Amino acid sequence: MTFKEEILQGIPDKLPLKKSYPKDINRAPKRKDILSVAEKQLAIKNALRYFTEDWHKELAAEFANELKEFGRIYMYRFKPNYKIFARPISAYPAKTKQAAAIMLMIQNNLNPDVAQHPEELITYGGNGAVFQNWAQYLLVMQYLSTMTNKQTLHLYSGHPMGLFPSSKNAPRVVVTNGMVIPNYSKPNDWEKMNALGVTQYGQMTAGSFMYIGPQGIVHGTTITVMNAFRKILQKEENPNGKIFLTAGLGGMSGAQPKAGNIAGCITICAEVNPKAATKRHEQGWVDLLIDDIDVLVERTRMAKKNNEIVSIAFIGNIINVWERFDEEKICSHIGSDQTSLHIPWTGGYYPADISYAASNILIRENPELFKEKVQESLRRHAKSINNHTKKGTYFFDYGNAFLLESSRAGANVMAENNIDFKYPSYVQDILGPMCFDYGFGPFRWVCATGKQEDLDKTDKIAAKVLKKLMKKSPAEIKLQMQDNITWIKNAKSNKMVVGSKARILYADASGRIKIAKAFNKAIKKGKIGVVILGRDHHDVSGTDSPFRETSNIYDGSKFTADMAIHNVIGDSFRGATWVSIHNGGGVGWGEVINGGFGMLLNGTKTADKKLKSMLFYDVNNGIARRSWARNDEAIFAIKREMERTPNLKVTLPNLVKENLLKNLFS
Ligand SMILES: NC(=O)c1ccc[n+]([C@@H]2O[C@H](COP(=O)([O-])OP(=O)(O)OC[C@H]3O[C@@H](n4cnc5c(N)ncnc54)[C@H](O)[C@@H]3O)[C@@H](O)[C@H]2O)c1
Repeated sequence: MTFKEEILQGIPDKLPLKKSYPKDINRAPKRKDILSVAEKQLAIKNALRYFTEDWHKELAAEFANELKEFGRIYMYRFKPNYKIFARPISAYPAKTKQAAAIMLMIQNNLNPDVAQHPEELITYGGNGAVFQNWAQYLLVMQYLSTMTNKQTLHLYSGHPMGLFPSSKNAPRVVVTNGMVIPNYSKPNDWEKMNALGVTQYGQMTAGSFMYIGPQGIVHGTTITVMNAFRKILQKEENPNGKIFLTAGLGGMSGAQPKAGNIAGCITICAEVNPKAATKRHEQGWVDLLIDDIDVLVERTRMAKKNNEIVSIAFIGNIINVWERFDEEKICSHIGSDQTSLHIPWTGGYYPADISYAASNILIRENPELFKEKVQESLRRHAKSINNHTKKGTYFFDYGNAFLLESSRAGANVMAENNIDFKYPSYVQDILGPMCFDYGFGPFRWVCATGKQEDLDKTDKIAAKVLKKLMKKSPAEIKLQMQDNITWIKNAKSNKMVVGSKARILYADASGRIKIAKAFNKAIKKGKIGVVILGRDHHDVSGTDSPFRETSNIYDGSKFTADMAIHNVIGDSFRGATWVSIHNGGGVGWGEVINGGFGMLLNGTKTADKKLKSMLFYDVNNGIARRSWARNDEAIFAIKREMERTPNLKVTLPNLVKENLLKNLFS
């Protein structure tokens, strides 16, 4: 069978042979054994819904075994034998190019070079699923290959509910991931419903097919580190020889040393897992590996003295570095943490004074004691950070729930009002006011021909558009424009492309629209092939997350999720090719609602209309909300947009003098 024939057949007519997992691959962690016997039976019954009764006996036993072994039913036997990667768009069997674009992006998210646990359909974050099982993958690809541009495929947490009649202006796919009734949004609810096969954790760009490998996170981290230094340095100073102390060299956190090098500082990144540290060193993402804390102290002193730009991976626990640097009076200029505190009890965060291997045993054999050790360490960790910040370190939470979990552990991280944290999140202080409130966020595109020359041409087009826009930009956003022009000029030489030919940069609404328009024009003229637009959910409007994306909202609305919901609905009728909305992503299940889109540009006038309408709303929805929350930068940005766009009418806040409130309730 050819690749196209295999896609078209969906679930095969004949039961495929049973498969065993290849050795030495990165397998997903074994999930909790959380179901009762009756619920396990229900999980098997649910899984068998995808198959003809003739196969039930054989598959029931096999699925029961998967549930026992892995805590989930992946239906591994049904994983296709062809290689999974983003092929050129023409390789996909499809009646509409829009559907082919979605197939390309799905395959990119499952490419073993891109995905963390491809056998279990996990793209990143340990649990960011594209689908729950291989039957869903086969059916979705089949639906996409047969659908017309007058149908829409509705996906419920990876499950294809079916093709429904719609119109050519409707999205081809509508994705929901992890949507539950709010009262059922605790981590164990996810464990249970995921084991039953009725929901999944889509993270942000995993379940929405918009992941583009490490490039996205390196760019975002670079922007964050550069702007963090800007907050504390004098105008004439640069980050050379200044320290950025942090932890984690995993999936996302591994970007920190690379970003530190691009930003031009000394990065010290502790990692307890020697394998993770070695992998990043071999990849060239971190310059030096050190496993002796005395050596680390000496090497850091030397780097400071020589004003170096260097990144150091310390193999060991971050707590030891904070404490030792405190004793040695080594001042870290900026500090953060990217251990996986969104999953603190299952290996996201390793306690001090227990080896990595011993911790892993404790997690399995005495989870209660492990939890105690984690909380004890968090208190110690925060105490040491407090000592440093008293001496001038600028510490920020990096969206990994560090402050949230530390506060739950009783660490001294609360502000005087006992409501807020002592330290800002990176969005509160950096990305929010410096980027999101002005509309700057992670715009991305994929060249669907798979050709390097197309990517090179789009880089040049984007740089040209941004340079032109910068000339007329107000002072408030000039730095953001310049950072992204520098980034796009060096993007190719940073060699960040893995999988599809993709690029990311931060731009505001007008930048995104002008770049997309220029791409569409180049496609029309035959200079490049078709292009798929998208973005990270971690953006101006896509995500409501009170401890991250919307942490700089201070009008009491940061626990609402209206913005993300409006965004997905608004994008869907303004021309998106597919839209998605998720519960969970980054900070954890129940802690965030986030959404995104994908849009195919094919060089037509219709694409021109859609891109203008949808990208405009996709950014300005969030600026309007941020402005209503009285954020100065957003008020500036939305007023500027209203001047340029007469049919945009946004409700503006009237500001109240603080004095007026003082004695009202005394
Ligand atoms: N800021 C953002 O934009 C952003 C984006 C994505 C993810 N995140 C969050 O960042 C966190 C990290 O994501 P990831 O994909 O890198 O996760 P990951 O699990 O792949 O990596 C975390 C690493 O931290 C290490 N670690 C744990 N405890 C440690 C300790 N005490 N000392 C030293 N090292 C320790 C682990 O061994 C692991 O390698 C997650 O909570 C994620 O949700 C933030």
